[in-house]
Amino acid sequence: MKAIIVCASSSHGNTRKVADAIGSVLGAGVVEPGEISPVEIAEYDLVGFGSGVYYLAMDKRLRAFVDAVPAGQGRAAFVFATSGIKEPGLRPYLRHLADQLTGNGYEVVGGFACRGLDTMGPLALIGGLNKGRPSAADLDSARGFAEQLRVGFD
Ligand SMILES: Cc1cc2nc3c(=O)[nH]c(=O)nc-3n(C[C@H](O)[C@H](O)[C@H](O)COP(=O)(O)O)c2cc1C
Repeated sequence: MKAIIVCASSSHGNTRKVADAIGSVLGAGVVEPGEISPVEIAEYDLVGFGSGVYYLAMDKRLRAFVDAVPAGQGRAAFVFATSGIKEPGLRPYLRHLADQLTGNGYEVVGGFACRGLDTMGPLALIGGLNKGRPSAADLDSARGFAEQLRVGFD
């Protein structure tokens, strides 16, 4: 199974840590949206898409990347995110990304989210929220998530 992960992680590299953990299990490289074209990902059996959450949405570059994926080239995909607080019911950012991918012909086979160090605005004054996260336990969970994804391709 050929897999790749497209990850935008601009704040602290929190989401990149998760991407690397998942990638280590899947044998998948991790690239930023600008490092691969939306057309090229058609070569992969499984594509991961993840970012930090910024103002209740996934990273703009990642969303633009997914928008530019030609319809109908998709196979399997998974989505992941790190955020300061748990995904709110009203603006489910991972579901929006999954819906966007489904609309482009991908089958979304899983999703993973955990907290990440958040020093946005006044949070910096107290050293940030979620210090030390993603933690070793978060990265273990991310690897466990990847193991499950891999089973689907055995
Ligand atoms: C400009 C900015 C806006 C953010 N907005 C949100 C938000 O709306 N909801 C949330 O839960 N976390 C928010 N965060 C926290 C980030 O989602 C969190 O720190 C995440 O782990 C960053 O991932 P990264 O290091 O991969 O960029 C925000 C952080 C920044 C810097």
